[in-house]
Amino acid sequence: MNIVVFGGSGGIGSAIVKQVTRVFPDAAVFATWNRTRPTAESSVRWSQVDLCSENSIQEFSSQFNQVHWVINAAGMLHDDTQMPEKSLQQIEPEFFMHNVQLNALSTLLIAKHFRGALKDANGSEVTKQFATISAKVGSIEDNRLGGWYSYRCSKAALNMAIKNLSIEWSRTVPDICVTALHPGTTDTGLSAPFQRNVPEGKLFSADKVADCFVKLMVKMTTSDTGKFFSYDGEELPW
Ligand SMILES: NC(=O)c1ccc[n+]([C@@H]2O[C@H](COP(=O)([O-])OP(=O)(O)OC[C@H]3O[C@@H](n4cnc5c(N)ncnc54)[C@H](OP(=O)(O)O)[C@@H]3O)[C@@H](O)[C@H]2O)c1
Repeated sequence: MNIVVFGGSGGIGSAIVKQVTRVFPDAAVFATWNRTRPTAESSVRWSQVDLCSENSIQEFSSQFNQVHWVINAAGMLHDDTQMPEKSLQQIEPEFFMHNVQLNALSTLLIAKHFRGALKDANGSEVTKQFATISAKVGSIEDNRLGGWYSYRCSKAALNMAIKNLSIEWSRTVPDICVTALHPGTTDTGLSAPFQRNVPEGKLFSADKVADCFVKLMVKMTTSDTGKFFSYDGEELPW
């Protein structure tokens, strides 16, 4: 079994890398980083991949003939230049486009370049999975607070991308489950500036979330394709 984790250097991504290594000791685990080269998990094959560059994704994909699980755990909410918008007047085109490029387009480009390896993969006991970490704030139906324009719009675009992909692949890539996963508020660099108002018991460790995600992915079958799941297995509205 071959497993590829994008964003393996991040808070949630590194916990997923650890967890899949534990749960599937015989699997070959490949993981990517962009700016922060990880030092842990020496059994993992690490590569630098910039998910904002199609060339970088394509070059990385060219080494694979078969991949059984692809998980994209890369993403952004803020960067060195800007925090998420509290109001319309704070929208900056460059920041908006960066959010869309990393949070939405990267998953489509990964799908484009890993389609062949996912299609050709066989011999694994668990269902083939293509999962991306989205966020409940990307749900249009669930939006009651507003704000965070760039992040919300990029995750809503990601959700549509996953739904679309699940429809196309149900016809053309046999036996695969395509999903968007919501981690809940998780203690990482991404959520660090916003943790003050999180209710007691609702800020999760990345290890807990990774454990939930891997358990969920082991259980999910092709009948779950095209769904948006919370870490606890609850199905979320798009
Ligand atoms: N934490 C939460 O509370 C929370 C809640 C809801 C959803 N999420 C989602 O969960 C996912 C993981 O978030 P996290 O909390 O683990 O964030 P994080 O710790 O900040 O990790 C972000 C990851 O994205 C990677 N990345 C950033 N720019 C990249 C690029 N251009 N190319 C390739 N990789 C790039 C980073 O790589 P380098 O560090 O190597 O640059 C890092 O691995 C994101 O999609 C986020 O939206 C998180």
